[in-house]
Amino acid sequence: MRIRKGDMMKIFVDTAKIDEIKEAESWGILDGVTTNPSLIKKAVESESEDISLDDHIEEILRTVEGPVSLEVGGISKEEMVSEAKILYEGFNDINNNVVVKIPINTATTENDDEFAGVKAIKTLSEDDIPVNCTLVMSPNQALMAAKAGAAYVSPFLGRIDDHIRKKINLRRGEDYPKGTYYPEELARKIREQKIYEMIMSGRVEEMIYKDHSIMKLFDWANDDGIFSGVDLVWSIKEIYDRYEFDTEIIAASIRTPRQVRLCAEMGVDIATLPFSVIEKMVIHFKTKEGMEGFTKDVIPEYRSILKG
Ligand code: E4P
Repeated sequence: MRIRKGDMMKIFVDTAKIDEIKEAESWGILDGVTTNPSLIKKAVESESEDISLDDHIEEILRTVEGPVSLEVGGISKEEMVSEAKILYEGFNDINNNVVVKIPINTATTENDDEFAGVKAIKTLSEDDIPVNCTLVMSPNQALMAAKAGAAYVSPFLGRIDDHIRKKINLRRGEDYPKGTYYPEELARKIREQKIYEMIMSGRVEEMIYKDHSIMKLFDWANDDGIFSGVDLVWSIKEIYDRYEFDTEIIAASIRTPRQVRLCAEMGVDIATLPFSVIEKMVIHFKTKEGMEGFTKDVIPEYRSILKG
C-alpha cells in the first residue's frame, strides 16, 4: 500500500472558472485545479469581465498553490510536445505549479498516430515537465501512461459509467440524468441472475457451443473486465500499488458525491471535482434539520455566555 497514515486524499476542482476556484480555495480544502479545452471555453463564455485568456490563466495559477493542469490541443507528438513546452515555459514561472495534460491517445482517424500520446508523455517526462495523462478509460492505458513517466493519470469515471450503462440498457433506451449514480452492484446482480436462468434452462451446452449466447452475457456489463468508473480506479490503484509506481491517480469525470466517497474509501490520491459536487459534499438535509433544533434551543443564559 502506498498510502501512509497521515496521507490525505487531495481535492482538485475541475473547472477554469475563477470565481469557483477562489470560493473552493477560501474554504481551505483545495489542493489543485484541472482544466481542459471544454472547461476553458465554458469559463471564457461565462466571464463577465473583459480579461485576456493569458491573464485568466495567470490568475488561476496565482490562486492555488497546488498543481494546475493545462491541456494541449494538438494531435501529433510534435505538436503536443511543442504546445506543452509553450504552456510550461510561458506560465510555470508565475507560481511553479503548471502540469501539462496529454491525452493517452489522440487518434480519431486512421491517419492519426495511435501512440503519439505515449510518445509525448515520454519526451516531456524526460525533460522534467510534469504530465497529467488524460482521457484514460482502461487500466492498461493507465499502465502505459505510468511506464512512459506520467506524474498523474486521470481515469474518467463518469464517462465510463455513461458508456457501460448505455451498453447494458438499464433504462430501456432512456438517458441517465448526469447526476445519478450508476448502480454497478445492481448491474452485476442482474447479470448473475441471467446466467443462473440460462444454466437452469437446460440449454447450457447449446448456449456455450452453438449460439454462444452465454459468452455474450459474460461480456454484457463489463468492458475490458471493468464494471464501472469506480471499478476502473480500483483496478488502476491495484496495479500502481503492486509495482509501487509514483504516478498519482486523479479520479476524474466525477458526477456524484458517492463516487468521491468510494474513491476515498479505496485511498485514491486525488479526486478532481466539479464545484457543484464539492458543494454537495458539505450539504445534508439531516444536518439542516439538526441545526434548526439547536438554534431554537439556545436559552438566553447560554446566549449571554456565548456573547462573552
Ligand atoms: C478531467 O481532468 C476532466 O477535465 C474532466 O474530469 C472531464 O469530466 P467530464 O466527463 O464531466 O467532462
